[in-house]
Amino acid sequence: MKKLLILYHSQSGNTEQLAHSVYGGARQASETHTRLVRALDATLPDLLECDAVLFGTPENFGYMSGALKDFFDRTFYPAQDYEVNLPYALFISAGNDGTGAVRQIDRIVTGYPMRKVAEPVICRGAVTQEYLDQCEELGLTLAAGLAFGIY
Ligand SMILES: Cc1cc2nc3c(=O)[nH]c(=O)nc-3n(C[C@H](O)[C@H](O)[C@H](O)COP(=O)(O)O)c2cc1C
Repeated sequence: MKKLLILYHSQSGNTEQLAHSVYGGARQASETHTRLVRALDATLPDLLECDAVLFGTPENFGYMSGALKDFFDRTFYPAQDYEVNLPYALFISAGNDGTGAVRQIDRIVTGYPMRKVAEPVICRGAVTQEYLDQCEELGLTLAAGLAFGIY
């Protein structure tokens, strides 16, 4: 069974809402096992045992959250000993932008290396049903793609 990891941080709950929608979408593809893990609790083995990863974060000061950055700080060099080479995609909660977080994550994960397989969902402002639906679709896309061997 293929494994999908959803790794996220949320300070005030918006990204967490998105993460739960991503998770709900992914679980519709029952052939893929999906785990939802907070960035502060995640370690390198979480990455090594999955087949694809979805990162979720608020944009803070034009960057990803410190907690997600902490995960990359802790795992980047240890990961160089392995063939990480994972497909990934992003979901971002932002007040009005979100592009800085996307740009910085894309740059860092290229070094693991990981490869982007879907466009990011950027939720700007309030978490609306439309954004939740986009996140659900993103989760389903990744999970179904894994199950069908697309990635
Ligand atoms: C310290 C701080 C910095 C922020 N910086 C940005 C920013 O640079 N760009 C932006 O669009 N929103 C920014 N925001 C707004 C958050 O991205 C937004 O409120 C987001 O929904 C928070 O997600 P969360 O509820 O998962 O923590 C910032 C919020 C905080 C608290």
